[in-house]
Amino acid sequence: MAITNLFLTTLALTSLFIGLALADWNILHQRKKHVVGDSLKTYCESWRINVELNNIREFEVVPQECIDLIKKYMTSSQYKADSERAIEEVILYLSSCCNLEGDGKDAWIFDVDDTLLSTIPYFKKHGFGGEKLNATSLESWMKESKAPALEHTLKLYHEIKHRGIKIFLVSSRRETLRSYTVDNLISVGYHGWTSLELRGLDDEYMKVQQYKSAVRQRLSDEGYRIWGIIGDQWSSFDGLPSAKRTFKLPNSMYYLS
Ligand SMILES: *[C@@H]1O[C@H](CO)[C@@H](O)[C@H](O)[C@H]1NC(C)=O
Repeated sequence: MAITNLFLTTLALTSLFIGLALADWNILHQRKKHVVGDSLKTYCESWRINVELNNIREFEVVPQECIDLIKKYMTSSQYKADSERAIEEVILYLSSCCNLEGDGKDAWIFDVDDTLLSTIPYFKKHGFGGEKLNATSLESWMKESKAPALEHTLKLYHEIKHRGIKIFLVSSRRETLRSYTVDNLISVGYHGWTSLELRGLDDEYMKVQQYKSAVRQRLSDEGYRIWGIIGDQWSSFDGLPSAKRTFKLPNSMYYLS
């Protein structure tokens, strides 16, 4: 009798615990599913912002699990608003920054890709940075000269030109792409720059950052005052000599060092 009771009690308790455990597991499971969705978004958003902050460097590909978010961002109205805000800050800076002497030595530097021209149509077909950058295929796309202008930068470009500041385009594109690049720039509305700097054979042995600071050194040696740089890569600003101010446009698809 006592043994039967003990047996029944044990059985009852065991079922209860199994029941509780299963119920608990279900609740946890459901909650976890919800949390995972949220935390992936949070994780990818902090990956993205830390790329912009130059804390995450030299990434070769966008983390696989974040491709969707990067795609969403780069094609969103938020990306447009962020770029437009950067341009507004440049205009604000220009309203009081500089003692323009009108001696032809006031200078401004622009990047080309993802600053004047957008490579988003290319990356749309190549996983938004989720595939390792293939220079051959990117360059053949560049040779089509079909990159659209970034509207806000186009406005800024003409505003700066209108102020009598000389415009230097400093790009990590190779010298062999010169005619395609010029055609592309002209066809979307850019004209009247002082010089388009592209990477010659010697420059290809340098990091982009070294090549770009060497260009600034040359301009500075020629007596130019570089009031500002606008670009989408940190390698466009890093190193000496620097400009009086720099403005970073968003780009979480690739990193050039
Ligand atoms: C890079 O692109 C070229 C041209 O589209 C292609 O032939 C080549 O196989 C690609 N290379 C890699 C490593 O994917």
